[in-house]
Amino acid sequence: MKLLFFALFVLSTIGNSVPERYTVSLNDPPSTRWAHVQAPYASIIKTFAQNYAKYSITPIKLDLLMILLNRGYINPEFKQELQGMAQTVNITYKEAAFLNFMYEYNAFCTSIVVRLTNGTIIHGRNLDYDSEEFLRNTTVVIDVTKDGKLLYTSVGFAWYLGVGTGISYSGFSITQNQRDSGSKLDNNYALFLGYQGDLWAIRQALINENSYEDAFTYLYNAKLADATYYILGGVNENDGSVIVRDRAQTVDAPKLNSTTWYLVQTNYDPWLVDPSWDDRKTVAIQQIEQIGQANMNIDKLFDVLSVSPVLNPSTVFTTIFVPSTGYHNTTIRA
Ligand SMILES: *[C@@H]1O[C@H](CO)[C@@H](O)[C@H](O)[C@H]1NC(C)=O
Ligand SMILES: *[C@@H]1O[C@H](CO)[C@@H](O)[C@H](O)[C@H]1NC(C)=O
Ligand SMILES: *[C@@H]1O[C@H](CO)[C@@H](O)[C@H](O)[C@H]1NC(C)=O
Ligand SMILES: *[C@@H]1O[C@H](CO)[C@@H](O)[C@H](O)[C@H]1NC(C)=O
Ligand SMILES: *[C@@H]1O[C@H](CO)[C@@H](O)[C@H](O)[C@H]1NC(C)=O
Repeated sequence: MKLLFFALFVLSTIGNSVPERYTVSLNDPPSTRWAHVQAPYASIIKTFAQNYAKYSITPIKLDLLMILLNRGYINPEFKQELQGMAQTVNITYKEAAFLNFMYEYNAFCTSIVVRLTNGTIIHGRNLDYDSEEFLRNTTVVIDVTKDGKLLYTSVGFAWYLGVGTGISYSGFSITQNQRDSGSKLDNNYALFLGYQGDLWAIRQALINENSYEDAFTYLYNAKLADATYYILGGVNENDGSVIVRDRAQTVDAPKLNSTTWYLVQTNYDPWLVDPSWDDRKTVAIQQIEQIGQANMNIDKLFDVLSVSPVLNPSTVFTTIFVPSTGYHNTTIRA
């Protein structure tokens, strides 16, 4: 009896949770500005980073990769931030850099933008990834300031310096989903050309762009180290889009319009039918249609992101943004 009671108690306390929240000032030196975010997670990050480097790449290949990354992917600011992280976490600079390069592998995400009948845009996402336990344990929300002004809030990992999920207080939100296109060789060539990281580009958009349109234009034209999907939301009724990116250019960019009130993007090109073995998109669309535009709201969108297989064992967190009000809510999934 006692044992059973204990087991039930544990089950009831293990569940969804709210991530820790930190403030980072871009006015602080790059080498120290993340230290207070990384220090509480140092030992978990160290263990993972060392294993990840040890089992995913040979030392010679890592050295070659570093040469490529230094052609532009790792710019001077990024480099100082990585040096700071290496020091805080007590790992090598190369381990810190390699960990920050893991972003594309094996990610399966769902991003959704919906317009309510009153024109309000809601933008939600599930981040799905391998190593979900490590990611859940290190998920953080970061408020980024510059010159005393709150610029944006990002949802990510204590050790990750780019941004995959963020809301700008200039009225736009951005999420990124992995896109499988081309080969490792294409990535190496893009790195050779000095193209920036897909998630570093989002960070630049959140820092520098002042509107949905400007963020769209920047991410539409940026030169990127890998193919990707960018999903954007904004403050006006048609401010919702999916930018389908190759490394050097945009392939397509479906948008909201007077008849299309939602966009669902998983990890397949929008003009293709998603594969039957991974049909998160069809399930999400069925749920959205069933709820209908008149009844859609933040809680309902959260429900859509909580239905299997949209929500699945590798879902790390669910985030909902409303760009017009600056609303943000992130739930770490159990
Ligand atoms: C840093 O890591 C090294 C080896 O991994 C260890 O010998 C050293 O004690 C660590 N330093 C601190 C301050 O924890
Ligand atoms: C739009 O509708 C939503 C859901 O009913 C509501 O929460 C929100 O306050 C409305 N926004 C405006 C600007 O009326
Ligand atoms: C994650 O955190 C849980 C609870 O603190 C711990 O038991 C587990 O070992 C951690 N796993 C990783 C990979 O960090
Ligand atoms: C809205 O977008 C959809 C999908 O791209 C398209 O089929 C439709 O014609 C567009 N409607 C208008 C009014 O532009
Ligand atoms: C965030 O979302 C969770 C899950 O839906 C909900 O329980 C919580 O009340 C929300 N928090 C805020 C501040 O909206």
